[in-house]
Amino acid sequence: DLSPIELAKRQACHMAVDENLPKSAKVIGIGSGSTVVYVVERLLKKPGIENVVFLPTGFQSKELIVSNGLRLGDPDCYPDVDVAFDGADEVDANLNCIKGGGACLFQEKLIAVLTKRLVIVADSRKNSEKLGAYWVKGVPIEVVPMAYTFVLRELKRLGCKEPKLRMGAPGKAGPLVTDNGNFIIDANFGLIDKPEELFKQIKLIIGVVEVGIFSQMIQSAYFGNPDGSVTVKK
Ligand code: A5P
Repeated sequence: DLSPIELAKRQACHMAVDENLPKSAKVIGIGSGSTVVYVVERLLKKPGIENVVFLPTGFQSKELIVSNGLRLGDPDCYPDVDVAFDGADEVDANLNCIKGGGACLFQEKLIAVLTKRLVIVADSRKNSEKLGAYWVKGVPIEVVPMAYTFVLRELKRLGCKEPKLRMGAPGKAGPLVTDNGNFIIDANFGLIDKPEELFKQIKLIIGVVEVGIFSQMIQSAYFGNPDGSVTVKK
């Protein structure tokens, strides 16, 4: 039995798939997190899905694709993605979003630039006016391990009071390591007035691989509400 939040996420995913799956889709990107699981659940019901190639955005979504018997591809062979579905940590009024709560932001952004259409699926808590209102853990930033102390210092210079190196799961001594062998820094900048500008400033720091601000990259976002309805932002 699913909790109300899970039911809301599932509703959003089912509608997102039904409204955004092109009949002729050949390549589909699958994002990371707990919500996209319901995207795959819905896709499995679509006729011809066994002929579609799926690109993952990290270890978890690769497992999700493989364990459901779907065809796995990679961007070298399939650089033209018809549509990608992904979760997010927060989406603002202009469809900018914060991603990377699950540390997969680099591969997520790679799929985001390869796809014709990026559709976000989430529950309604993540539907906000301004980034930083709901997601208070900070902007996730993937960094090359050797550069992390430098990046922490530069982030303070940009106005982040307390950037934090994300630590590994309990029982793991030391920092979290991404699917690409890098570290994650979470940098809280409070409410973000100009996401695109902040993104560019952070991206210019030496050692930053990618920033979890997705500005003007998504076409639509589907939010499941507690009453079972779905809010769509386009
Ligand atoms: C992964 O790095 C993130 O961008 C996820 O897509 C995001 O955290 C959403 O995850 P949930 O669907 O589990 O909330």
